[in-house]
Amino acid sequence: MSIDKQLPSTRTTELDSICLKAEVIPVIAIQRIEDAVPLARALYDGGLTVLEITLRTDCALEAIKRINEALPQASIGVGTVLTPAQYRQAEEVGADFVVTPGTTEALYRYGVTSPVPMLPGVATVSELMTGWQYGYRRFKFFPAEASGGIKALKSFAGPIPEARFCPTGGIGINNAEDYLALKNVMCVGGSWLTPKSLVDAEDWDAIRLLAREAAERFHH
Ligand code: 3PG
Repeated sequence: MSIDKQLPSTRTTELDSICLKAEVIPVIAIQRIEDAVPLARALYDGGLTVLEITLRTDCALEAIKRINEALPQASIGVGTVLTPAQYRQAEEVGADFVVTPGTTEALYRYGVTSPVPMLPGVATVSELMTGWQYGYRRFKFFPAEASGGIKALKSFAGPIPEARFCPTGGIGINNAEDYLALKNVMCVGGSWLTPKSLVDAEDWDAIRLLAREAAERFHH
């Protein structure tokens, strides 16, 4: 969107340096607080150093605090942020970045002023255009598969070729590569690295292996 090239971009460099560290970002919902650190450590040791912890569970904020303490080198995104109030909570627990599933004007406005960069979730060109006007250049594309997947991303590149995306929603080991091959995709995210059965069984070794497989297969 060349008309907006003059606008300041909202922390594009910071987001790029985070996303450069990982082509794959596990999207995690911590159900039991005791799982937080061993789960994050398994993913980190497997080679996935950028993690998105969602605010979808009661213990999420406490989990993020503990993970930050145990793994200070990991980049922690706080996900499923729906309101500016949750954005502030993410800042307080030391988020490196904030991820939203969709956007509101309030979130777009808050994100511009926050010290923590935001990866806003968009699924349509209109949402993308609104974010672009606020200065956002990097977006989550969610829900990716349900919103047109690879075809939609190729279409976004027509009018807004400078935008880059982290698609999530329906992405797994079998289609991640196809997404990563697109010029406007910087990384992909998903819950496939933390299958419920392995987490419930506390099989951290198996999760480390899943992470390693993804890290080796999809490295930059
Ligand atoms: C997200 O918020 O990114 C999604 O819930 C992840 O989607 P998935 O479970 O289909 O990977």
